[in-house]
Amino acid sequence: MKIDTENATVAGSAIDPHLRKGPRGYPMLPGGYGRSTYYTGAPSPYAIRGEGCRVWDDRGQKLIDANNNFTSLIHGNVHPEIKAAAVEAMSAGSSWGIPNLYEWELAELLLNRLPGLDQVRFTNSGTEAVMSAVRIARASTGRDKVVVTKGGYHGTSDLALVPGGPGYTRGVPQGVIDDVTTVPLNDIEHLTHVVESAPTNYAAIILDLLPNRAGLVSVSEEFARTARDLATKHGIVLIIDEVISLRLGYNGLSGEYGVQPDLLTTGKLIGGGFPVGAVAGLGSLMAEVDPTRSGNLPHGGTFSGNPVSMAAGAAALRLYTEDQVNRLNDLGDSVRQTVSKSIAGLGWEVRGRGSLLRAVPEGADKVAEDIQHRLWWATYRRGLLGSPANLLSLSTPMDDKVGAEIAEGLSAAIADVATAR
Ligand SMILES: Cc1ncc(COP(=O)(O)O)c(C=O)c1O
Repeated sequence: MKIDTENATVAGSAIDPHLRKGPRGYPMLPGGYGRSTYYTGAPSPYAIRGEGCRVWDDRGQKLIDANNNFTSLIHGNVHPEIKAAAVEAMSAGSSWGIPNLYEWELAELLLNRLPGLDQVRFTNSGTEAVMSAVRIARASTGRDKVVVTKGGYHGTSDLALVPGGPGYTRGVPQGVIDDVTTVPLNDIEHLTHVVESAPTNYAAIILDLLPNRAGLVSVSEEFARTARDLATKHGIVLIIDEVISLRLGYNGLSGEYGVQPDLLTTGKLIGGGFPVGAVAGLGSLMAEVDPTRSGNLPHGGTFSGNPVSMAAGAAALRLYTEDQVNRLNDLGDSVRQTVSKSIAGLGWEVRGRGSLLRAVPEGADKVAEDIQHRLWWATYRRGLLGSPANLLSLSTPMDDKVGAEIAEGLSAAIADVATAR
């Protein structure tokens, strides 16, 4: 297949991308998709090319990319410095069976931003990072159970699916489900009761401070601090999952809260657009995966710490300076304010924090999938690309003008959905 990126057409292939059928590709993927998370309720457009904060698709649409591959493209598409770093690394070899020095570089840049943490281990995804963090917590405490907040999303490992509720746990063994205690978000009494009634059962409390699947509602500072205090009191490991939220502060969102995790999981932006994940943590806990120690936990991953992800990630982190973090968060605040004003009275609200935004029906903690998809298509028609759950994330190529375009497109799309019969 030859994809003409300039003209956004697919040549030399039997696929008709507009009909979404043909002997290749589409029918060979379940439902036509390589990832279930792409699904928007109707056959999807295909991405052809991206540049800065824009993406072109095979239907001829030029879109503002506020999906950014689910928040990972913090510098938008094909940032020249990130591209140069990735090409330079790849030109010397895409991956090897001995360590490479780019791992040091990214580790140093990341740990400089996480002052309370000592060491980092790279993985290929956020899912793997959370899996590894939980394994470290269990091994170090000798306990099995973990506490999560209702609706939280921590990837697609068996354990991480449990907080999504029964709709997400088909195929997950009952034993795994039994080891996960789900508490309502921001319910301090419930969290305290759960932990205090059986403190020695719990290996970890996992917190995402701005959980998207739970409606992009912030964890209250009091709830986060209670989790920290309970963990300290009972020797439980506090895992703060910053796979998405790391972008919200120079020291991550936990840095903004002033709540210190024992282990912090991240991913997305720290790979510069390439596959990545990481667990950063206290030296005493990270020692569990130290292969020079006897009884250490097995941790591998053929492509973990590969030079391309590491080099691109290092370039991305270097470019995401404190000024850029603040500028992007201010831009997000201004988009949220503008949209909130223009949709007043429509029964919708725009939630989020800093550079992450999400429109939901007022007061909703769970938004029906068909409503999410209707809003996705309404924004798409107005030239704005969000996530299928309507999460919009900003990237550094966006300026005030693009912010205004996003606000206009989102406001109009919300009005379309709110007034549709
Ligand atoms: C908070 C959180 N944790 C974990 C993950 C899983 O990361 P990945 O998709 O890289 O496996 C995600 C993905 O969106 C996430 O938002």
